Amino acid sequence: DWKIDSFVEESIKNIREKVGNGKVLCALSGGVDSSVAAVLLSKAVGNQLTCVFVDHGLLRKNEGDEVEAVFGPEGPYNLNFIRVNAQERFYEKLKGVEEPERKRKIIGEEFIRVFEEEAKKIGAVDFLVQGTIYPDVVESGVGGESTVIKSHHNVGGLPDCVDFKEIIEPLRNLFKDEVRKAGLELGIPDYLVYRQPFPGPGLGIRIIGDITPEKVKMVQDADAIWREEIANAGWDKKVNQYFAALTNMRSVGVMGDERTYDYAVALRAVTTTDFMTAEFAEIPWEIIGKTTSRIVNEVKNVNRVLYDCTGKPPATIEFE
Ligand code: XMP
Repeated sequence: DWKIDSFVEESIKNIREKVGNGKVLCALSGGVDSSVAAVLLSKAVGNQLTCVFVDHGLLRKNEGDEVEAVFGPEGPYNLNFIRVNAQERFYEKLKGVEEPERKRKIIGEEFIRVFEEEAKKIGAVDFLVQGTIYPDVVESGVGGESTVIKSHHNVGGLPDCVDFKEIIEPLRNLFKDEVRKAGLELGIPDYLVYRQPFPGPGLGIRIIGDITPEKVKMVQDADAIWREEIANAGWDKKVNQYFAALTNMRSVGVMGDERTYDYAVALRAVTTTDFMTAEFAEIPWEIIGKTTSRIVNEVKNVNRVLYDCTGKPPATIEFE
């Protein structure tokens, strides 16, 4: 793809010119956008770049270790990679908070605080990298082009908190498919490049109501099973986003001779082209059935599984 080839080439050239021998800091989430931005920067300025990965305890099952395996010292890239295990801090701040926008704000603010502390340890930083892509700019209303429905914590979030000269947003003009192409061009592995989107606030907005470490574990385990079954059935390529959420509803069930009063998990799978609208995916009942049996058998404190048949609008893709 000549357009992407030249994008990568031009970006590297421009970044080098801009950065000179300055120090660059990047918040790496392991998502497609920040991964592509980080690798692009590292190709351009090598170890003048430091990447900070904040594990806020709201990542998918094993995700923190997976990100570390790719970008950490054992991985293929020669990045200055810092992983911050901030789980406890986030759980503490979120204790008892139920309101979705407050949860988003708390997660966003705490993220900035953790990041800021790391930046201070690194010392004088000249540039900050953000993996903002074009649709983020539009949907967050930053460009004034649409109404803000939810606050996206990873857009325009970091400025002001760290002393730096300038922000670098190398992907700001790209659509998602272009970011993926650039990722492949940069040699990032397929499974990372084609990862489904995952929101900045993570599982925090897939647990309806207040967040506890126990609920995080429930939703992680249920989600891992759903993703495994979808992938085994080859449906991962047919849907654009799929995950499990923990409803705040408990209901009565029966296990052996015992009455249970446990949580309900909601399964979500949607098809969409731009994530502004979406249709629920018509996943075969067989897959939903198998996933359901596994979840109620393998995940403690879950006794009911529901499938979400709502499109966007009127629902959103995420639950909060
Ligand atoms: P909704 O729930 O608004 O989601 O229909 C649309 C798409 O955006 C993702 N999403 C986010 N991504 N930070 C992100 O980076 C956020 O705060 C955020 N909230 C929603 C969501 O996963 C879906 O792909």
